[in-house]
Amino acid sequence: MSRPKVTIIGAGMTGSTTAHWLAARELADIVLVDIVEGMPQGKGLDLQEAMPIIGSDVRIIGTNDYEDTAGSDIVIITAGSPRKPGMSRDDLLHINAKIVKSVAEQAIKYSPDAIFLVLTNPLDVMTYLTWKVTGLPHQRVIGQAGILDSARMRTFVALELGVSVENVHCYVLGGHGDSMVPLTRHSNVAGVPLDKILPPDRLAAIVERTRKGGGEIVSLLKTGSAFYAPSAALAQMVEAILKDKHLIVPASAYVDGEYGLSGIYFGVPVQLGRQGVEKILEYDLNDEEMAALKKSGEHVAANIKKLEPYL
Ligand code: APR
Repeated sequence: MSRPKVTIIGAGMTGSTTAHWLAARELADIVLVDIVEGMPQGKGLDLQEAMPIIGSDVRIIGTNDYEDTAGSDIVIITAGSPRKPGMSRDDLLHINAKIVKSVAEQAIKYSPDAIFLVLTNPLDVMTYLTWKVTGLPHQRVIGQAGILDSARMRTFVALELGVSVENVHCYVLGGHGDSMVPLTRHSNVAGVPLDKILPPDRLAAIVERTRKGGGEIVSLLKTGSAFYAPSAALAQMVEAILKDKHLIVPASAYVDGEYGLSGIYFGVPVQLGRQGVEKILEYDLNDEEMAALKKSGEHVAANIKKLEPYL
């Protein structure tokens, strides 16, 4: 049986770290693509040379040529500019739309049966653009955001309570930006809802830190944005798809009536398997939670409208 093939477009911080996670877990052969000459080849060779040490038999190459990506099972798009301090994810829209459009157009020519995973920001908008450009069924184009935002919240809760991160389950839905919606009633520690275990002021502080989690890292790094956690989230999605796990995670998916929203990509709980998004789960939300999702959906929809020049 041949090993699955994963192409990662953008061999920068998130792209190359994603390759690292995938290779270490022996999940797939990997093709790293970048516009910069030599860099993806150098990173690919360096990572390949690490494989004897960690005992993984995957093949990793770097390239500037999309022919090398032919027949990929999964194509990951991380190409684009990251945020600088003071920038919102939305500020990247026009810079990254051109890049994402061009890389998606080239990748789909060589991998018409792939599932596309998108990481480039603004996330929900770039995922929508990739769906349009590739012409794929919407179930095969998915954005990574919710696993990351939920992992940030899980981290803060685990640190606050001094419990294992494995006991903490958090669900952050909505657009990947300041309007994201951390669901405190559904999030829990070993089955106990967060709002029953944390005082309101501590819970509010964790929600706020989660919403601003990406910005916190950008202001510390000064050049570039978070990459370890975003790439770990991508690797989890790749594994769920390749192993057909039917794993339920929050991700940016095309909504068609779910949560009262339609026609946009948006952070919702999805079940992931070999065909991509198998279904979207609908939680029982109260009026306040629904209103927050609606507001977040309106924000994403307004940004998707700005894509007109690229469609
Ligand atoms: N084709 C291929 N690669 C490209 C192109 C292109 N047209 N344009 C830019 N790139 C590459 C850059 O050369 C760079 O190596 O994309 C890579 C981006 O890497 P970084 O600058 O390190 O950025 P990174 O931190 O990986 O973030 C990329 O993911 O999390 C989001 O907000 C983040 O949108 C940003 C994206």
